[in-house]
Amino acid sequence: MADTLTITDNRTGKQYQVPIEHGAIRAMDLRQIRTSPDDFGLMTYDPAFQNTASCVSRITYIDGDKGVLLYRGYPIEQLAERSTFLETAYLILFGELPTAPELTAWTNEITLHTMLHENIKKLMEGFQYDAHPMGIFLSTVGALSTIYPDAKRIQDEDVRRLQVLRLIAKVPSIAAYAYRHSIGRPYVYPDNDLSFTGNFLNMLFKMTELKYRPHPILERALDVLFILHADHEQNCSTSAMRGIGSSQADPYSSLAGAAAALYGPLHGGANEAVLRMLKEIGSVQHVPAFIKKVKGGDGRLMGFGHRVYKSYDPRARIIKQTADLVFSVTGRNPLLDIALELERIALEDEYFVSRKLYPNVDFYSGLIYQAMGFPLDMFPVLFAIPRTSGWLAQWDEMLRDNEQKIARPRQIYSGAAPRDYVPSEQRKPR
Ligand code: CMC
Repeated sequence: MADTLTITDNRTGKQYQVPIEHGAIRAMDLRQIRTSPDDFGLMTYDPAFQNTASCVSRITYIDGDKGVLLYRGYPIEQLAERSTFLETAYLILFGELPTAPELTAWTNEITLHTMLHENIKKLMEGFQYDAHPMGIFLSTVGALSTIYPDAKRIQDEDVRRLQVLRLIAKVPSIAAYAYRHSIGRPYVYPDNDLSFTGNFLNMLFKMTELKYRPHPILERALDVLFILHADHEQNCSTSAMRGIGSSQADPYSSLAGAAAALYGPLHGGANEAVLRMLKEIGSVQHVPAFIKKVKGGDGRLMGFGHRVYKSYDPRARIIKQTADLVFSVTGRNPLLDIALELERIALEDEYFVSRKLYPNVDFYSGLIYQAMGFPLDMFPVLFAIPRTSGWLAQWDEMLRDNEQKIARPRQIYSGAAPRDYVPSEQRKPR
């Protein structure tokens, strides 16, 4: 017999059998539970979607209690050790690791699309010199929809695939241009002899040398960070991507919305916020006072806690190892001692232990980015580049899913009862 949930409605005395599948009941199965024929039927109330699955997905698996993260079944630890970002992006998008010829073809295809239309470059020149690069990034990604109007044909698989190539290839160029703009340096065109990450470093940091050669350790470290950030199932920005995409908007517009969601300090903006917090703390001696402040409800320990992970975020563990490699090249980030002390105290403190608050992906990533020479406000952009592959995979999956429709949550109305309009001169002061 299939698993079912029996519900007794005390209001009517009626009983209902609701099927349970994949550990969930369908919210629409509750609609039949009514007190009268004109009753709307029972709804679920779940602010912030803390206990609601909005899709069936085959892309990313997280076990938050055990600290497990799999992309298409492959453990993140193995991918971080043995894969490259472009290979991982292929895996996330198409479901399998590419064969050697597939990987070569995929790499070539991405390489062909790294250039930005000159008009996009001019558009970016219009931003203030001190514009936040994430603001530039998300605006420019949105503007790409005007350059590629064909992208509207989202039902056409070939058209979708072309936009996937364009977006994955162009987001590093946009990010690098945003950075160069903010420091007043001329834009650097892509060098397609270099790897995906090597070329990104070239577009960021090339000066007058004829050929930019990335440091292999830094190139690999950034690639590993990109692997770790490639997807993370139904988080805030991915839900935004799916939500906007569900109205059949083109992928550039949807991705601009996803990037906007990522920008916030509780999500992808946390890496920037962590560094600002470490700077504000200033020294190891000030850590206990800062922890006390957080426990008193004054601010949060940025880079700690997660909606899904209730144990150590496996990505944070890998990032910590990567940090040692990076610091062997760049020198140790002096803020690392403050971060280590924060982690040490927090992992022993009842407040954090009882709430299962552990370091997340953003706690150590900023220290690496800073050591590599990125300014703080580039950090969320560095998150958006690899996450583009995850957003696109989730968007594509949604479009193929016959059960999906335009996303449109319900509400519980608690506002005014119907009332008549009153002319302004007759309104009483409140
Ligand atoms: N510092 C101090 N207290 C915290 C923190 C924190 N970082 N995170 C959660 N809490 C407390 C919170 O005050 C609450 O306590 P109480 O039960 O006494 O009211 C309890 O822990 C549960 O918190 P919540 O806000 O209900 O948890 P949530 O699942 O809604 O929030 C979170 C998850 C990631 C938004 C939150 O942990 C947070 O704000 N962390 C800091 C920001 C951060 O590092 N974000 C990056 C997340 S990982 C990468 C990404 O998604 O981009």
